[in-house]
Amino acid sequence: MTIDNKKAKIILEDGCEFDADIIHDNMGSKSIDISGLRKETGYITYDPGFMNTGSCMSSICYIDGEKGILRYRGYDLEDLVSKCDFIEVAYLMVKGTLPNLEERNKYMQLLNKHSLLHVNMKQFLRNYPSDAHPMSILTAMIASLSAFYPELEERDPEENIDLTVTRLLSKMRTIAAYTYRQMNGLEFIDPKYEYSYCENFLNMMFHTSVNGYTPNPVHVNALNKLLILHADHEQNCSTTAVRLVGSSEANLYAAVAAGCCALWGPRHGGANMEVMNMLSKIQNDKMSIDEAIRKAKDKNDPFRLSGFGHRVYKTFDPRAKIAKRICLEVMETTHTNDPLLDIAMELEEKATHDDYFVSRHLYPNVDFYTGITFRMLGIPANLYTVMFAMGRLPGWIAHYLEWRHDEYMKIGRPRQVYTGSPLREVKPINER
Ligand code: ACO
Repeated sequence: MTIDNKKAKIILEDGCEFDADIIHDNMGSKSIDISGLRKETGYITYDPGFMNTGSCMSSICYIDGEKGILRYRGYDLEDLVSKCDFIEVAYLMVKGTLPNLEERNKYMQLLNKHSLLHVNMKQFLRNYPSDAHPMSILTAMIASLSAFYPELEERDPEENIDLTVTRLLSKMRTIAAYTYRQMNGLEFIDPKYEYSYCENFLNMMFHTSVNGYTPNPVHVNALNKLLILHADHEQNCSTTAVRLVGSSEANLYAAVAAGCCALWGPRHGGANMEVMNMLSKIQNDKMSIDEAIRKAKDKNDPFRLSGFGHRVYKTFDPRAKIAKRICLEVMETTHTNDPLLDIAMELEEKATHDDYFVSRHLYPNVDFYTGITFRMLGIPANLYTVMFAMGRLPGWIAHYLEWRHDEYMKIGRPRQVYTGSPLREVKPINER
């Protein structure tokens, strides 16, 4: 990052002027530093949805939405997906470098060592209704970790941060699997020391004393890749929530619980579940693909093409391409057939050739094919956003840690354009 010798001059209608620094990032993009604008001129900027606001400097993730590029810590997503497992990528996100074999294996063992849940937490989880939304359970359980493992609240949080990060990465997988078992009235089973991160997750989900389940390597491989696809996406809604909560110096568990809440919505991580609902609706209502597209284009119809469109990607979402490939690989190697996949592919084909979607740069996003793949792994639709959260966790942690150590870190506190009433007098209640 460098600061230009030249300034950007902002001339305001009352004659006020402001000389803003021009910042060049490492990839050639430019930004204008307006952080002193209000102090010097009294003006604020108005940018709903932060469409045009850089809220921090970050070295974790790089996206070029026009070219469809996504990199974690300088490594291309495609390269990471083809050469790494999820633990290696989690290590990269949290520690900043890729581990060697010994470091990776040690990290995997460390995560397994911390994967058990406190017995009272299990009891707590047991008391949720079996039809509770998994995201409400996940969010509450993550926030509760700070009650059961309170080291971060002690006087020197830095000392305990490594331990907290490890616990969080490890226990979220256990919580996610137990949420599924609670939904299905199954006993919780412990993680196994000899299993990898994804093997353990699938085993804790599906093994019972009578089904002899062992994780299928094809499913383990697909799950590793799917989690990597979700590992980070710079300043998206949930990561911004994590940073914002972290900026008040709330602990990591609290910040990640906030990230889970933000992810839950159908315009963000809830979209993968919405995609499956949409595809099932098309199938059940025997709706033609042309009719689905017509409805999605009709502004008076609430029907939208879930899994289509993205705030940042305007040509294609690189994650969607990889997700489609993973989906087809699982289908071919396990000889699974899913009619929803045929519907999805026809929908993609027709929508990407339709002027409405082309002119608005609406293409499949990461959520379009991940749901169908999770379904092939036996994971039910209402758990998809939990899967997204598991994948996104290393990114959230990396952003939380980066923000804590940022010399420019300030509590997040935007301004507003007030549209309410001027001063009014309160009338006594019997005169209102
Ligand atoms: N189906 C139909 N029309 C759409 C869709 C869609 N999925 N997405 C956007 N549009 C239309 C809008 O109606 C708007 O049309 P207009 O210009 O005629 O008014 C135009 O495209 C621009 O859309 P915005 O909503 O302004 O775009 P924005 O960048 O604010 O929103 C978003 C992006 C939220 C992802 C949006 O495309 C959407 O709702 N998609 C469906 C939900 C989804 O898949 N979310 C997951 C995103 S990826 C992630 O979070 C991991």
